Amino acid sequence: MSSLPAITAPASNAASDRVPIANPPPCHVAIIMDGNGRWAQARSLPRIAGHRAGARAVRRTIEAALAHKVGWLTLYAFSSENWRRPRDEVSDLTALLRHYIKSEIAELAANGVRLRFIGEAGRFAPDIQASLADAERMTAANTRLNLTIALSYGGRAEIIAAAKLIARAVAAGEITPGDLDEAEFSRRLFTADMPDPDLIIRTSGERRLSNFLLWQAAYAELIFLNVLWPDFGATHFAEALADYAGRERRFGARPA
Ligand code: IPE
Ligand code: IPE
Ligand code: MG
Repeated sequence: MSSLPAITAPASNAASDRVPIANPPPCHVAIIMDGNGRWAQARSLPRIAGHRAGARAVRRTIEAALAHKVGWLTLYAFSSENWRRPRDEVSDLTALLRHYIKSEIAELAANGVRLRFIGEAGRFAPDIQASLADAERMTAANTRLNLTIALSYGGRAEIIAAAKLIARAVAAGEITPGDLDEAEFSRRLFTADMPDPDLIIRTSGERRLSNFLLWQAAYAELIFLNVLWPDFGATHFAEALADYAGRERRFGARPA
């Protein structure tokens, strides 16, 4: 139809005028810390040496998160499925965890870090369970960085646990099936009072979630790095934030 006016973009909206708008910094960064075993293997060292070097990378990462004023940092340290590893490696990892909490807690507390643990803590030895609970209690009033460590964590197990709580609440007449919505469900997850991750980083070159934050990752930006976790440091953290800043997050809507 010749009577239709020609379509011209308003000058202010022309592509050449558009300045890319950077994302605000991520509120919550989550990291799948992978590659300790390969790091050790490349040096002909036992796997535990890789896990110890991984613990040093955790320290650097917390410092980087503090420096960049990231409010929430979640670290995947041990999955529900990692219990399937050889008994020696599991016991080395639990010994390292025991040592790590004891040696780091005072400094974390002094730096304003609030510690939380998500996962099935009940699968650890009683003394570890007690030290996890102590660490949470000791740091509960801190607000500078919310550091969550996922231990014996699995996203599917977390979702099943939440579903059981919902089923019990319905059976007890506390809620009706019609009351159930995303907010009501989220309140039953380990991450109940946490924001969803904006950015999930995985090291080691693997490109999968391995059962990490399945519900919460719905709209997270994903970054896969070809660096083994023990080699991860402040520069990688800063580069990941810069990559994130350039991402366009749509949440299913159309860009403005
Ligand atoms: C990550 O490193 C630490 C844990 C999963 C406990 P890995 O031990 O998985 O290292 P790779 O993947 O074998 O190199
Ligand atoms: C994921 O790494 C779990 C952690 C980093 C704690 P894995 O090494 O266990 O994952 P897969 O087996 O390669 O998927
Ligand atoms: Mg691995």
